[in-house]
Amino acid sequence: MPIRLASQFLPSGTPAKLWYILISTALQVTFGCPQKPTPPSLSTRFPMDILAAFAEFESSALAAIAAATDAAGIEKVRIEFLGQKNGRIRDLQKLVGSAAPADKPAVGKRFNEVRTTVSEQLEVRQQQLVAQASKAASDFDVTLPGDRPRLGRLHPITQVIAEFRELMGRFGFTVVDGPEIEDERHNFEALNIPEDHPARDPLDNFYIACASATHGGPVLLRSQTSTVQIRTMEKVAPPVRIVSLGRVYRPDTIDATHSCMFHQMEGLLVDRNVSMAQLKTVLSQFARSFLGPGVEIRFRPSFFPFTEPSVEVDMKWGDSWMEIGGAGMVDPAVFEAVGYDPEIYTGFAFGLGIERFCMKHFAVDDIRRFYENDLRFLSQF
Ligand code: PHE
Repeated sequence: MPIRLASQFLPSGTPAKLWYILISTALQVTFGCPQKPTPPSLSTRFPMDILAAFAEFESSALAAIAAATDAAGIEKVRIEFLGQKNGRIRDLQKLVGSAAPADKPAVGKRFNEVRTTVSEQLEVRQQQLVAQASKAASDFDVTLPGDRPRLGRLHPITQVIAEFRELMGRFGFTVVDGPEIEDERHNFEALNIPEDHPARDPLDNFYIACASATHGGPVLLRSQTSTVQIRTMEKVAPPVRIVSLGRVYRPDTIDATHSCMFHQMEGLLVDRNVSMAQLKTVLSQFARSFLGPGVEIRFRPSFFPFTEPSVEVDMKWGDSWMEIGGAGMVDPAVFEAVGYDPEIYTGFAFGLGIERFCMKHFAVDDIRRFYENDLRFLSQF
């Protein structure tokens, strides 16, 4: 003990005052006096919220670094956490600024530690990813054949529709569209098809029972594109020269030449002094433009409620005749239904089955092929 050591070296007659001085000096030498305050623990020195923010920053940055899988990903992490402008490190910097002056050195030190750790880990991961990518690149055998991209193409029916629109456009016909869900006025009544006509039999049409209530009357999938004749004439004054191409629906028994859904091209021309000769000319010019100069058109007498006279249209291509649709001069009753004066205007209308042309053109023998979505079939066109 220093006290004892000190007394050993003192002569035995030393006065009490001197003892006191000696002892207290020894105490000072031994324990240090006046004593410096003990350093406060970290928790009182660092405000808890600053510490917590540092810890949170560090752990989420390290997790994000570990989760990055490529160069772009790791760069995003760098910007989010260490970015000069808006990186989250900026918030930590502000916290350092807000710490009490006495805490600043320690808070600053911890800040530097966190920043260094995150920067280092980021760099390590960056290098790992670069190494991975170059390994992947060097593993790639450039001599292997590539994956040929599978190009889509237009459905044969769509191709034919596009060509029909183009051809009829050259004859001066504008293309218009109509809805596939129709009411009875447009599908039947205005087309002069009376209530008791067999064509209106519910068994021959797709009525949509659940839609009738909200529509305020029966609605059905249109059974013919002649509906668009009415919709057009309701809207525009004559002269009219339109075609409309689209789907129609009939509950037919499906076989090689029948489908419950198929496509029609409707044509309507209304003007003064329109003749059936013009109808035949338009149809034969159209058929020749599509299939070739050898094609012939013939009319056979028929009946449609909305044309008078009415004909079935046949087309001769090669050796055989094939029925392609119906046509005729617009019935005066139809003009009356849409408010055209039948004393002034005449017109012709036709409706052709698009599938018929398509089958002939592409030599397809079964209409069902068009709707089966078999790529082995579709990719041939
Ligand atoms: N709409 C008739 C049908 O679908 C075809 C047609 C159209 C007939 C225009 C005459 C005039 O069978």
